[in-house]
Amino acid sequence: MSPEISHPHLLQVSHLTKTFRGLRALQDVSLFVDSGEILGVIGPNGAGKTTLFNCLTGYLPPTQGTILLQSQDITRLRMPDVTQLGIARTFQNIRLFGALSVLDNVRVAQQLRTHFGPLEFVLGLESFRRKERALTEEALHHLELFGLAEQANFQAGNLPYGMQRRLEIARALATSPRLLLLDEPAAGMNVSETDALHQMILEVKHRFDLAIILVEHDMRLVMNICDRIMVLNYGRVLATDTPEAIRRNPEVIESYLGRTHHVEAS
Ligand SMILES: Nc1ncnc2c1ncn2[C@@H]1O[C@H](COP(=O)(O)OP(=O)(O)O)[C@@H](O)[C@H]1O
Ligand SMILES: [Mg+2]
Repeated sequence: MSPEISHPHLLQVSHLTKTFRGLRALQDVSLFVDSGEILGVIGPNGAGKTTLFNCLTGYLPPTQGTILLQSQDITRLRMPDVTQLGIARTFQNIRLFGALSVLDNVRVAQQLRTHFGPLEFVLGLESFRRKERALTEEALHHLELFGLAEQANFQAGNLPYGMQRRLEIARALATSPRLLLLDEPAAGMNVSETDALHQMILEVKHRFDLAIILVEHDMRLVMNICDRIMVLNYGRVLATDTPEAIRRNPEVIESYLGRTHHVEAS
């Protein structure tokens, strides 16, 4: 039986491999994710989590395997096209435009999906001004969802760290994604900041009917927010299962959870 034929998954990755000069950063990785679902990806440093995101977004070409987004083969597409088709991401190391305002960080990302005709732009037509206003309103709305509306005119680089992390997500949403990839969004956050982030992720998932892939080391967040979790180890999938099953999986405990992480959910 092939469930993909009757109900194609939003994202279907099959047998993905990525090698860097002989180093297999990803080996035969298969996964799927659907709208309204959060797939967690965990594993030790160097397991290939960020490389997976780099391949899914067209930032790096996979060595082998296929990536289907709504049944469309996007394996060989480059980043701008992948963004247009609906995959957005945040970065493990924050990559905001530090000199721009908080609002402009979101506005710049909107440009990746919006097309103004050149004449509209030059002549300053009313339709152009109307679109501009609508986009600014939408950007402010995204900022509001992440508790950043009051900081709209602040310089992004001057925001406290936790807010910069949230702004990265607000900016990713500005491209109107179907699939959102979050690379360690809670890194460096304290417990209450992480709890707030948890609620914001659920809220945007619900509002925009997103599929989310969450790479994260904070096991409390991962175990509590994810519908399914995939464990990567040396580029290979060790297991994909529910949080409960992952927490009890002996191989997973041995390779990852047992070492440094406290895994009790609260
Ligand atoms: N652009 C690259 N060139 C060469 N090696 C890379 C590159 N990106 C990642 N790697 C290597 O691939 C492996 C997986 O890295 P990464 O995907 O960053 O792991 P994770 O995000 O799980 O910590 C590591 O051994 C890393 O050094
Ligand atoms: Mg990484």
